[in-house]
Amino acid sequence: MNIKFLAEYIKHPKTVGAVAPSSKYLAEKMLENIDFENCSAIAEYGAGTGIFTAEVIRHKKKDTKFLVIERNERFYRILRRKFAKCSNVFVINGNAQDLRKYMKMCGAYPVDYIISGLPFASLPHDISDRILAETKKIIAESGGKFITFQYTLFKRKLFERFFDIDDISVAIRNIPPAFVLTMTSKQR
Ligand SMILES: C[S@@+](CC[C@H](N)C(=O)[O-])C[C@H]1O[C@@H](n2cnc3c(N)ncnc32)[C@H](O)[C@@H]1O
Repeated sequence: MNIKFLAEYIKHPKTVGAVAPSSKYLAEKMLENIDFENCSAIAEYGAGTGIFTAEVIRHKKKDTKFLVIERNERFYRILRRKFAKCSNVFVINGNAQDLRKYMKMCGAYPVDYIISGLPFASLPHDISDRILAETKKIIAESGGKFITFQYTLFKRKLFERFFDIDDISVAIRNIPPAFVLTMTSKQR
């Protein structure tokens, strides 16, 4: 049981969106469609305590820039402690909807992959819409991919408003099992 995570969920249920961090199995699934050899920058939304972050850092090339965005102050401090000294890793206490601003600050162009742990099932609609609209534009510029996980496919239609879904896989060993969606920017 991760007490710090649970405590933040109790304080901010809608934005934290889960009672515990994801598993390493889910982290591995989230990264399956990333071509780490050909990648100039990656961004992560809602890194929490850094389960996906650690896996990206383990796989990425040293010169690939990695922007790790977390809104919650307590999780941000944990992420900084764990990863701030890693090469070309930028841990940011901020909002996913401001990714373009952070790309400018860090000189991270183009962003080829955006991975997300954001709880779209519980985030307010206007916030989800703003984040997804901006994400769509950023990956359209790079021809990149947006990768997220969901415990159900109830929000599939929301994603389909912005993206083409290229792949859906299931991380069975996560508790509960989770769907991993890999998407590209919608052409129309
Ligand atoms: C379900 S948790 C996922 C944490 C971690 N990725 C994992 O899988 O264990 C969602 C995270 O998104 C963060 N979050 C929610 N809204 C955000 C936003 N607009 N910008 C950045 N982070 C946000 C929360 O603080 C929380 O850490």
